Amino acid sequence: MCGIIGIVGNRPVADRLVDGLKRMEYRGYDSAGVCTLHDGELVRRRAEGKLNNLVEELERADAPGTTGIAHTRWATHGAPVTKNAHPHATPAVALVHNGIIENFKELRDELRAEGRSFESETDTETVVHLISREIEKGSLPQEAVKNVLPRLRGAFALAIAFRDYPDMLIGARLGSPLVVGQGEGEMYLGSDALALAPLTQQIAYLEEGDWVVITNDTAIVRDVEGNEVEREFRNSGASASAIEKGNYRHFMQKEIFEQPTVVAQTLRSYLRQGEQQVALPQMDFDISEIDRITLVACGTSYYAGLVAKYWFEQFARVPVDIDFASEFRYREPVLPKGGLALFISQSGETADTLAALRHCREQGQVIAAVVNVPTSSMAREADLLLPTHAGPEIGVASTKAFTCQLAVLAALAAHFAVKKGLLTREEEAEIVEHLLEAPACLNAALDHDDDIAAMAHLIAPARDVLYLGRGADFPLALEGALKLKEISYIHAEGYASGEMKHGPIALIDEDVPVIVLAPSGPLFEKTVSNMQEVQARGGKVVLISDAEGIAEAGEDCMATIQMPKVHPLIAPLVYAVPVQLLAYHVAVAKGTDVDQPRNLAKSVTVE
Ligand code: M6R
Repeated sequence: MCGIIGIVGNRPVADRLVDGLKRMEYRGYDSAGVCTLHDGELVRRRAEGKLNNLVEELERADAPGTTGIAHTRWATHGAPVTKNAHPHATPAVALVHNGIIENFKELRDELRAEGRSFESETDTETVVHLISREIEKGSLPQEAVKNVLPRLRGAFALAIAFRDYPDMLIGARLGSPLVVGQGEGEMYLGSDALALAPLTQQIAYLEEGDWVVITNDTAIVRDVEGNEVEREFRNSGASASAIEKGNYRHFMQKEIFEQPTVVAQTLRSYLRQGEQQVALPQMDFDISEIDRITLVACGTSYYAGLVAKYWFEQFARVPVDIDFASEFRYREPVLPKGGLALFISQSGETADTLAALRHCREQGQVIAAVVNVPTSSMAREADLLLPTHAGPEIGVASTKAFTCQLAVLAALAAHFAVKKGLLTREEEAEIVEHLLEAPACLNAALDHDDDIAAMAHLIAPARDVLYLGRGADFPLALEGALKLKEISYIHAEGYASGEMKHGPIALIDEDVPVIVLAPSGPLFEKTVSNMQEVQARGGKVVLISDAEGIAEAGEDCMATIQMPKVHPLIAPLVYAVPVQLLAYHVAVAKGTDVDQPRNLAKSVTVE
């Protein structure tokens, strides 16, 4: 999604603005721009496509000045072309925006009726005109912003520059994140702490409805009512090196290989190793009284939730409803008071999930959130925060966040069961033991990287690929298909293996590879029968299983990928690795942009 950076500096800012944009490239974008204040003018440079194009534009015509704003745009209203790139400007005001102004049509009509003309197709341009109109009427920038913000419906993070006030910027947020950074004689605005990491670690997080006026050495924050409020600067801990690739070719590859470490790190805060017990954060509600869970998430986080549904129902015997966040509110779910609503999100900012969370709060649900970014909106708004400790995830395709989510959810399911009196001490100890085996098993799975790379050429030419799994491995089939689609642009679908015969089997021919996830164990025989139904119709199968499974069923397969033998509880964590690696190597073989696949954004902050 769009990335914002603003600097009120004591030395030229253009290069540093572009550097900040580079650090937000991972969010996904299709055009970029900067605007600086210089010699009583707003100096604006914009370019469509990759940041290099903006850099070239700045080489042709520089942007001097010590104050400026910059933006990477992920198109919502209007094509990804230069005229729609931010900053949008009038002669007196320039601004950048992340979010959507839902009532922009009505605002634009109002402004057009006054004779104002628009140069872009964006919703954002209406905001710049509204603020300019106030300035033209003689308002100070602060008054202008204060008058305009209540007129905007939707979501926004804004950074606004004023031609006649070269040592000041105004930022505002509602529904989209914005932080303020404090440097040495400089002040910054940014979409996140990572964007500002090389400039400062001192970060204040704006709350919903806040707006802030920054100068070189002041940041005055006002809340939605216009009252001056304190938002403390804290050390963000965001290190500049956290978003470097090290020796890896891609962030996604680095993040796949980080999984043993970050899953171990995550488990450490949810398990008491010595006592073989699960240990969750203090809860100010009685979990044993919860008799229903509503799980809501998007994308990969939703698939983590689907796996967790199996665990909650199996261990804690509590019914689980699960929805895509974008659908949730629209089916008017029944939410009896006191139910637990559990949200899963890497970013903690996904607009659909956040809207669902707020809806559940209004309906009297207890709100729990499994979130990777501890300073995010969801983390702040939850009654119970269950952090994953995956560290910054930069690759658009989520990998390590997923396995860390599974680790937290497995611990939560076990805790729930213990509190409901459904697990004996021995059973709890056994679960803890299996979870603690996960990091070593993930390492063993990663050992097969070369084998998977060597077989990627079998999948790369395919137009369609199917993934099959049963039980808690079915969500893994969905996740495998999503990974492949996202980064290699091959059409892929995941199916419950037993569901094939009810329709999808009609798709089978020798050009449609079928990836079967089948760890040996209670469900193995059934999955293999479904696999054989595929093979009997000429289907080419890649079997992902352990040595035992491959010995039993691997003979007629196009290829096999061997995994370590694991307990069924941790199979979804371990089998995530081969599906991630397969998607990764197929994408590399196809030469696609692995870390920033087309059309996608890392954190989707619009509904
Ligand atoms: O930040 P979130 O976990 O809320 O994001 C949800 C989805 O947008 C995300 O998982 C998306 O599907 C990924 N690109 C999957 O790899």
